Amino acid sequence: MDRLKAPARLMIVSDLDHTMVDHHDKENLSLLRFNSLWEANYRHDSLLVFSTGRSPTLYKELRKEKPMLTPDITIMSVGTEITYGNSMVPDDGWVEVLNQKWDKNIVKEETSKFPELTLQAETEQRAHKVSFYIQKDKAQIVTKALSEALKQRGLDVKIIYSGGIDLDILPQGAGKGQALAYLLQKFKTEGHPPVNTLVCGDSGNDAELFSIPEYMVKNAQEELLQWHAENAKDNKKIIHATERCAAGIIQAIGHFSLGPNLSPRDVTDFSDCLLENVNPGHEVVGFFLFYEKWRRAEIENSEIYLSSVIANCCPSATYVHPTGIEQTLHNCINGLRGCYGDKQGKQYRVWVDQVLPTQIDSKTWLVKFDMWVLSGEEQHAARGTAIFSSKGESASDRLTWIRGHQTWIKGYEPKESSPFFG
Ligand code: GLC
Ligand code: MG
Repeated sequence: MDRLKAPARLMIVSDLDHTMVDHHDKENLSLLRFNSLWEANYRHDSLLVFSTGRSPTLYKELRKEKPMLTPDITIMSVGTEITYGNSMVPDDGWVEVLNQKWDKNIVKEETSKFPELTLQAETEQRAHKVSFYIQKDKAQIVTKALSEALKQRGLDVKIIYSGGIDLDILPQGAGKGQALAYLLQKFKTEGHPPVNTLVCGDSGNDAELFSIPEYMVKNAQEELLQWHAENAKDNKKIIHATERCAAGIIQAIGHFSLGPNLSPRDVTDFSDCLLENVNPGHEVVGFFLFYEKWRRAEIENSEIYLSSVIANCCPSATYVHPTGIEQTLHNCINGLRGCYGDKQGKQYRVWVDQVLPTQIDSKTWLVKFDMWVLSGEEQHAARGTAIFSSKGESASDRLTWIRGHQTWIKGYEPKESSPFFG
């Protein structure tokens, strides 16, 4: 992927549970706010890295449950598995580093001598990670005795306690911080270190992330708060955000002046969002936000809005619906009058992922994107392309839609498709 070969304007490395994902936010609003900010302003030249304790199995489950974006890099199993891109290609170099002074069988043998340890599910036992549950009051003493025992057996391990319950045993060179250090070193050697890096986490296994750069979310767990008090209280590069989860990440982007921090979802006057169409990625994000808010009746039922959306489309612009039906974009948008508020008070969200613009010539842009829709219990998705042309000569000239095309993503076809956009 080309973007992995260029210096990222911003690299965000974020933990998932209780950091990017707020399990107490049923509407997932802060996550959706982050998503539209990222896709409109950062996706094209920045890198999104998820760093989670979850194994690939549990990570994939979470992605099905929550409206999460597709990261450029996924670090799973507490920094023991690094994969790239959509197809999650593993980093073999990292596996080699982890094999040093590590023997999973010895770890299993020694840990079996501690009745205080309860083995976690089979999916969470990985090549370089053995995980247990242990009660808080026993954690410290067992960790100490276990480190001794494993050292005696010639291993060099790292034991991490998280969330007041999880105990992970990893090779000494593993962990979220080490995995990030490995990535940063790799990018530096290849000549494209990120311009800025922001790390975000809330629990024990995230602590070592902060030995690299900067930030912690509000609902931080006890062990991380303790780490902060002992190690980072006066460090200006670390903040303890006052907003929860993904909203805290947006707050940190603003605090450290890392780039735009106004999510298109938070723009109160929607005509501002529709007017600001000089960036093709932003235009796609703004359009689908308009579509969601229109159907949820969260914006006014106003001809002014519809005419400004229509004004952004060339009169001959066409749209190919995932079912194959082609019509003019003007027709489609005029048809939206009939569905104003049809999703009011219902579970209905639309978000876009992997919005990637490519410039075709001085006036034309092609944008690829995935559109996701959560409607009641059903989630469906379509892969799309949009072509835009700028009306004038300068880069700041307004963009007009020339063509849109969507195709269902296999396995995510809706039972009943909307006559409008996917
Ligand atoms: C995730 C993993 C678990 C691990 C914990 C803390 O919950 O599924 O195996 O112990 O993170 O790192
Ligand atoms: Mg967490």
